[in-house]
Amino acid sequence: MIIIKTAGDIINFFATTKVKTLTTGFVPTMGALHSGHISLITKAKKENDLVVCSIFVNPTQFNNAKDFEKYPVTIEQDIYLLEQAGCEVLFLPSVAEIYPNGLKTITHFELGFLDTVLEASFRPGHFQGVCQVVHRLLEIILPDKLYVGQKDFQQSMVLKKMAETNFPSLQIVICPTQREAGGLAMSSRNMRLTSTEKKHAVTISKALEYIKNNIMAGYIEDLKKNTIEYLSTQGFRVDYVEIADANTLKPLDYWNGKELIVVLIAAFLNEVRLIDNMIVND
Ligand code: PAF
Repeated sequence: MIIIKTAGDIINFFATTKVKTLTTGFVPTMGALHSGHISLITKAKKENDLVVCSIFVNPTQFNNAKDFEKYPVTIEQDIYLLEQAGCEVLFLPSVAEIYPNGLKTITHFELGFLDTVLEASFRPGHFQGVCQVVHRLLEIILPDKLYVGQKDFQQSMVLKKMAETNFPSLQIVICPTQREAGGLAMSSRNMRLTSTEKKHAVTISKALEYIKNNIMAGYIEDLKKNTIEYLSTQGFRVDYVEIADANTLKPLDYWNGKELIVVLIAAFLNEVRLIDNMIVND
């Protein structure tokens, strides 16, 4: 695997005739890699000639300074896992490479409704930060396909919207959430959980499964309310339990039994904020 640290070197790499003709799959990450990330690399490898992964802990997408400081960094292990998975190029930029004009000169991305609900309302500015970095990475790497995880359901919708206007020929591939044996969605943030907390965190995916298996057409407000209450009694600080149209992310209080819906949860277990989601009727 080649490790490239500057935008100029990536651009030169792709300018060589040998590489120019190859299809490229791109997996953006913030490191602290786990099997979820590796599943994206594996899929990208199957569908492209060349796979590029980036590791960059993006300061502009953290609305909470503590969360940024505590974000796990495991670069040696990440490089090992990427080598094992057969990733060809690792892009490991500095803040100056991604934000050549400084962190304060921020472009605004028009994300509409998606930038007002759920994650956007609990983490103001988060998706603008995500778009800043992904836009810059796409502009440097110019991949054919971008691989993201369904675990960050709203993020994948946001990136689709951003790409529609800015990179119309880019294909976005959304890959299924990878789960631990008990059902806990894999996440870099799980590294911050103690082993007791990790066992307890499974309650979130169990709650999603409960809703998926028990939801019926009709009014669904009580199901949401009861789940919030249940998670609170289990020691979680709930940001939201929402059932939304899976194509628009519009929250629903009534389900006609037909439209494709997704259940989304965000909750703190002590210091660590966890998110997860499940599509009900896929
Ligand atoms: O999902 C993530 O890890 C990040 O939000 C991403 C897409 C790498 C942008 O920093």
